Amino acid sequence: MNLPLTYKIAVLTGDGIGPEVMAEAISLLQRCAELDGFRIELNESLVGGAAIDATGKALPEDTLANCEASDAILFGSVGGPKWERLPPNQQPERAALLPLRKHFNLFANLRPALCLPELTAASPLRPDLVLGGFEILCIRELTGGLYFGQPKGTREEDGETIAVDTMIYRKSEVERIAHLAFRIARTRKQKLVSVDKANVLENSLLWRAVLKEIASEYSDVELTHLLVDNAAMQFIRAPKTFDVVVTENLFGDILSDELAMLTGSIGMLPSASLGTGQHGHYRFGLYEPSGGSAPDIAGKAIANPIAQILSVAMMLRYSFNLDETAARIESAVRKTISTGLRTRDIWSEGTRLVSTKEMGSEIRVNL
Ligand code: IPM
Ligand code: MG
Repeated sequence: MNLPLTYKIAVLTGDGIGPEVMAEAISLLQRCAELDGFRIELNESLVGGAAIDATGKALPEDTLANCEASDAILFGSVGGPKWERLPPNQQPERAALLPLRKHFNLFANLRPALCLPELTAASPLRPDLVLGGFEILCIRELTGGLYFGQPKGTREEDGETIAVDTMIYRKSEVERIAHLAFRIARTRKQKLVSVDKANVLENSLLWRAVLKEIASEYSDVELTHLLVDNAAMQFIRAPKTFDVVVTENLFGDILSDELAMLTGSIGMLPSASLGTGQHGHYRFGLYEPSGGSAPDIAGKAIANPIAQILSVAMMLRYSFNLDETAARIESAVRKTISTGLRTRDIWSEGTRLVSTKEMGSEIRVNL
């Protein structure tokens, strides 16, 4: 008899609404494991402000060790007003997230901006632009560019202060994100938009050249290039014409927030940060909601758990190849939305306002 596989998951709940939405995501994951016959081993660790309070560090060693011993990380969110006065490099966001990305080589950040047909009213765009909904997958390079390039720092020179950040990409870094983007585009609408600033930046000339070179291996995918400033406009003008977008780290940071806003409900959007290789049998990854810790609504039982729940679905799909279970979760979310349940962030006249827990339990029922 084959024993069911066990997936080891590090659970880093963090701050703000993290614990509330994570509780719903975990219950749902446990239910999926029962239904589809796999086992999960969950190990919780402190991260972010919660970890600073307990240990003085946003990413304590034993948290890192737990992640290292796991097949994937399920991440909540970090940060809040309590830690805002710490020096920038000790703040939960920077001191926990960036080192995790670098340590595990999480080079590819997938952020699907999904606007369901039922929720187009939440979008700030004119109804005719979003009619029927849309889904744009933003693939952001996550471990290169200005975030990590050296030299980096602030110094005094000629009697004034100078700050330096370095934008640097190696060809191999562009190649690996490009391959991933083409492979994903292939499974969708065979359309890939690459975003750069090739009219100004050396980095972007390399980026564009590599994308073109690799395109020849994916002749079934149509590649287009957009300058980043133009891309920012086109997303607003015609969101439904996009499917998969790939870009470098800082552009991706900015554009993924723009895309999230276009859906009108950041509480719905998951994300995946994928590593380079296999970790045991699985592809290592970190899965987290796109929205932040939302300290203003923490503890009020009103947060939308869907982003965290869809992050579980991404984990099952990308790290564990459990595509069917992932699809089961996604359709349960759609069904729950179509029956009119809404947390406060997506509520509109004529729909039923529910709490974090009610939303979570209804999605479980709809699995
Ligand atoms: C994100 C965030 C982070 C980033 C911050 C918190 C460091 O904005 O994940 O998009 O800039 O990457
Ligand atoms: Mg960001």
